Amino acid sequence: MDQKLKNKTAIVTGASGGQGAAEARLFAQAGARVILADVQDALGEAEAESIRDTGGDAHYRHLDVSSQENWQTVVNGIKAEFGELHILVNNAGVALRGGRVTNTSMEDWNRVLSINLTGPFLGIQTVAPLIRDSGGGAIVNTGSIAGMTGHFATAYSASKWGIRGITKSAAMELQEWGIRVNTIAPGLVMTPFLEGSDDFIEALGDQTPMQRGAEPEEIATVALFLVCEDSSYITGHDIAVDGGFLDFGGFNRVINQVMEKPDQKV
Ligand SMILES: NC(=O)c1ccc[n+]([C@@H]2O[C@H](COP(=O)([O-])OP(=O)(O)OC[C@H]3O[C@@H](n4cnc5c(N)ncnc54)[C@H](O)[C@@H]3O)[C@@H](O)[C@H]2O)c1
Repeated sequence: MDQKLKNKTAIVTGASGGQGAAEARLFAQAGARVILADVQDALGEAEAESIRDTGGDAHYRHLDVSSQENWQTVVNGIKAEFGELHILVNNAGVALRGGRVTNTSMEDWNRVLSINLTGPFLGIQTVAPLIRDSGGGAIVNTGSIAGMTGHFATAYSASKWGIRGITKSAAMELQEWGIRVNTIAPGLVMTPFLEGSDDFIEALGDQTPMQRGAEPEEIATVALFLVCEDSSYITGHDIAVDGGFLDFGGFNRVINQVMEKPDQKV
């Protein structure tokens, strides 16, 4: 694989599994030193070790993204140990499917917002000065199709709409530090995130024009594009990676329904 991230240091949050682990693996293959950060320590340590076993440069750090103190400790450690940082992927997130506006408790609302929205805010705030001092770089935030259209889970949807606002304002402010900031908005991705949601997986898979969920590696390749020089003129953007769901999912359903009729009156 091309060494598109040679001499770069990257931190990926939520990297103990799912998309974050796939991103960490791919970035390491592309030549980066990768810091995997998560709250699931045993899984994260094992993931970093398996990257090292294949010749990659990977290190695990405990990081609860909702804690400002944790962020400060991790970033100070990176600065002391490695001296520089060029890439941040704010990927850690939690779901709250079924959390409707009328039944979401304050506790759930605060938990989802603190991890999915405050977490990336704290990450950017803590990491950006070090990226600047390292010569610039790129930040990718993980949104969702739930933050691109109306959605049934209020707190989750609000967090993912909010991340797009952070992306755009951070992109505007950090351009003078040589830092690009973009959002990836995945559709259905086959990770532990969906555990216990079989009916949701089936329904969203059916409604997705490509008729399937993505593998985490199909998100990681887009993250790699957004953090390397191939995307040097893209910033402040939201990129949906969703098998066509947002852009033509509605009319795809319409035309499929029409085609089912024996005598079609289109
Ligand atoms: N899987 C999907 O269908 C899907 C769709 C759209 C968006 N997303 C988003 O993609 C991102 C990654 O999700 P995934 O599918 O890989 O899920 P996942 O559950 O496999 O991974 C999420 C990771 O985040 C970590 N995490 C949770 N809380 C944390 C915290 N406070 N601090 C640090 N790490 C924490 C978890 O331990 C886990 O390793 C999330 O932001 C999610 O909202 C997922």
